[in-house]
Amino acid sequence: MTAVGIDAVEIWTGKLKLDLPETFAPQKGDDPAKYTKGLGLNASSFPDAYEDIVTMGANAAYKLMERKGLEPDDIGRIDVATESAFDNSKPVSTYVAGCLEDVYEGDFHHANKGERKFACIAGTQSIDDAYNWIKAGRNRGRGALVIATDTALYARGDAGEATQGAGAVAMYITEDPSLVEISHEQGYGSADETDFLKPNQQFPSVDGKRSVQVYLARMREALEDYESVAGDVELDGFEYAPFHTPFPGMVRKAALLAYRHVIRGTEHEDDLAGEIGRQPRPDEFDDEEAYQEAIREYMDALGDTEKYQDWYAEVIDPTLSISREVGNWYTGSVHIARMSALIEAAEEGTEMAGKTLLVGSYGSGAQAEIHAETVVDGWQDEIEACDIYDQIDDRYDISFSEYEQVHDRHNHEKRVELEPFTQPEGEFVFDGWGPMNERKYTFVE
Ligand code: CAA
Repeated sequence: MTAVGIDAVEIWTGKLKLDLPETFAPQKGDDPAKYTKGLGLNASSFPDAYEDIVTMGANAAYKLMERKGLEPDDIGRIDVATESAFDNSKPVSTYVAGCLEDVYEGDFHHANKGERKFACIAGTQSIDDAYNWIKAGRNRGRGALVIATDTALYARGDAGEATQGAGAVAMYITEDPSLVEISHEQGYGSADETDFLKPNQQFPSVDGKRSVQVYLARMREALEDYESVAGDVELDGFEYAPFHTPFPGMVRKAALLAYRHVIRGTEHEDDLAGEIGRQPRPDEFDDEEAYQEAIREYMDALGDTEKYQDWYAEVIDPTLSISREVGNWYTGSVHIARMSALIEAAEEGTEMAGKTLLVGSYGSGAQAEIHAETVVDGWQDEIEACDIYDQIDDRYDISFSEYEQVHDRHNHEKRVELEPFTQPEGEFVFDGWGPMNERKYTFVE
């Protein structure tokens, strides 16, 4: 069977940084450790005055095309995944194509374009669409450009304000890819939920605590569904597990549940039995409440074991490094988790070719998906080309009053004027509104 997967990735962060422990926490009257230790976040990225989901997506795509030497004719579809769209009809992908057509000789008239919406899981769904398009042999030798781009803003004062972020991930999906091959097998956990939604509004209505529970429930279903087609997931069967990361503390909870599930009935559970006992089984209890209490106690003990903590440090923690510095990128979040792990592997000289990633995506509303990816030869070249940490270091560090202005600037109802904090160079920028209320863009040399 032809291998299909991700050939190249480019990441673009919003150019502003909000320092959470230093700048945000004092204004909220919070202990900075709530952010750094509890949520696991150091900073959020925000778009400068001339940036938005189109410029970030187009700039990531342009970087990718330039680095890979691609022309518009090489690309047969452009799918943008976002939950920050500003138009209920015209897709963001048309704006992105318009930007790119300004700098390339060819055009994208031949390319199928769309916009995928299912909260944060839409980026993975767009990859899925590209995978199916290529596997069906409908791509005529072309690849698919998938762009996950979001400005994740919450209403001022919402608990989610601490987890904001903005950035884009452009991915090129092809046959015989240079980064990862995607598994045929996948598992879903999907249900009608009202944990997080934006009914014709820019900022989400969120039931924060419930959203955490829904994430865990759907992810667990997806894992079981994945195992029903791919066989039981084994603890040693994957090198890293990039998960959707609204904030690293969320992944900390998901990882512990996944670990408990994966070791059940294995020698790993036996190894730990002397120290913390065996996992409680429902048939050992007279009522559900006693069973749940026993599970909670087991989980607390499991999380404290050296065996679990070593596994977490090796398999999960490396996926969180970028997220810690940029916050939640919604559709792009799981895709920066993958890159985060692979960058760390490359830095440590770990040979990843042939090794597996277990990838867990999630979108509120709600759906989780799990699939596997096999890292392929050539992955180091792709990863070494990624300059996300330089971009992170170059961001302009905003004060709290500047943050308030930036939030207003990107509030669709306010549209306030704001002098940029940084100078654009060699990139697409937002250039005002046209007569039909359309957004205009230009390339700055
Ligand atoms: N030192 C160390 N830890 C501290 C601390 C301190 N001084 N103060 C608080 N903490 C810990 C808390 O114990 C908590 O950790 P645990 O959950 O492990 O106990 C953590 O820091 C956060 O503290 P709170 O629960 O008090 O924080 P909060 O109530 O203000 O907000 C939230 C948390 C509800 C998740 C909020 O950030 C939110 O609404 N976020 C948006 C929704 C979201 O991201 N949900 C995630 C699942 S949905 C999803 O994934 C889709 C998506 O992208 C949105």
